[in-house]
Amino acid sequence: MSSRRILVTGGAGFIGSSLCERLVEDGHFVLAYDSLFRGTESNIQSIRDHRNFQFMLGDVRDIDRLDDAVEALGGVDIVYHLAAVNGTKWFHEAAHSVIDVNINGTLRTLELAMAHEARYVLASSPEAFGEAKQQPIQNGNEMTFTDPSLHQRHSYGASKYLDEIACQHAVREGLDVRIVRPFNAYGPRLLGDEYGQVVAMFFNAILNNQPIEIHNGGEQTRSFTWIADIVDGFYRAGIMDMSLDGSSLSGTALNIGSTEEVSILALQEQMFSLVKASSWARPMPEVRYTEGYHGDAKRRLPDCSISENLIGWKPQTNLIQGLSAMWNQLS
Ligand SMILES: NC(=O)c1ccc[n+]([C@@H]2O[C@H](COP(=O)([O-])OP(=O)(O)OC[C@H]3O[C@@H](n4cnc5c(N)ncnc54)[C@H](O)[C@@H]3O)[C@@H](O)[C@H]2O)c1
Repeated sequence: MSSRRILVTGGAGFIGSSLCERLVEDGHFVLAYDSLFRGTESNIQSIRDHRNFQFMLGDVRDIDRLDDAVEALGGVDIVYHLAAVNGTKWFHEAAHSVIDVNINGTLRTLELAMAHEARYVLASSPEAFGEAKQQPIQNGNEMTFTDPSLHQRHSYGASKYLDEIACQHAVREGLDVRIVRPFNAYGPRLLGDEYGQVVAMFFNAILNNQPIEIHNGGEQTRSFTWIADIVDGFYRAGIMDMSLDGSSLSGTALNIGSTEEVSILALQEQMFSLVKASSWARPMPEVRYTEGYHGDAKRRLPDCSISENLIGWKPQTNLIQGLSAMWNQLS
């Protein structure tokens, strides 16, 4: 397979940095572009000095800087667009920035891809379905958003919804675009500060013996997906020239998520059992039940049949395997 010149926006973030590692490992020329709003240079430590890898600090809304990135790469064959403001607390606290970065970042990078006739891969989200009533989440389901005067949670989900619209418009203009919807990625390097995300927040609480907060009774379910599986989904979605059945992948939205549905309460219990069974001798932290955020989805379960049929993707790591691997790295 030939080497491609690949721009990864958000390349110093949690998923982006792991994707860059995988792409570099496979011989591609990669430029990670990131403002370091949430990403860090330590995330890309393992490939920092690799001859096929470059890092550029820049804002994804800055078209001149994006042009510099393409010039440094010597042209671009694939744009993976992962840069976004992510982290639930931000959606409520900083809705303006979430909308600005997530929508304008997508518009600018789509224009960049069009100018260079590059393939484009969008990191969308199951949150593009809003407070999804129909489960499992699959293409064609209704996307449901609630009154913005109640809360701004959907600054994120609605920005991803508009991102998908912009992508489908670009497909009609002739661009090769693939949409990936990761479902609750977790693994080493996942941030667990007050802005999210839950698996890392719980492990951090255990490590520091801080109280664990469970929102809304903890009965809401999620489908936690191991980082290597997520990266494999992005990899296939971007690198494959066509689908396994020979059809075009352009305009296809691919759910990349585990079908193991777990409540937040069950997640916390599994994590406690796992840690207690390890050599960790300290007591488990207090569990507090709090109201949590408005607009959190009650369930988020993917139908991944399209991903399996078109790009041969299936999750390989179950939750207990992934949690154990993550705990072994952290403890
Ligand atoms: N992690 C998940 O479970 C999940 C689920 C659904 C969708 N996604 C999407 O996947 C992508 C990657 O998510 P992640 O979990 O790695 O999050 P992340 O926050 O670790 O990565 C996003 C990156 O974008 C960068 N960024 C933010 N604003 C920027 C700007 N203005 N200019 C340039 N860079 C900027 C951040 O510094 C960060 O490194 C995001 O688009 C996210 O919305 C993630």
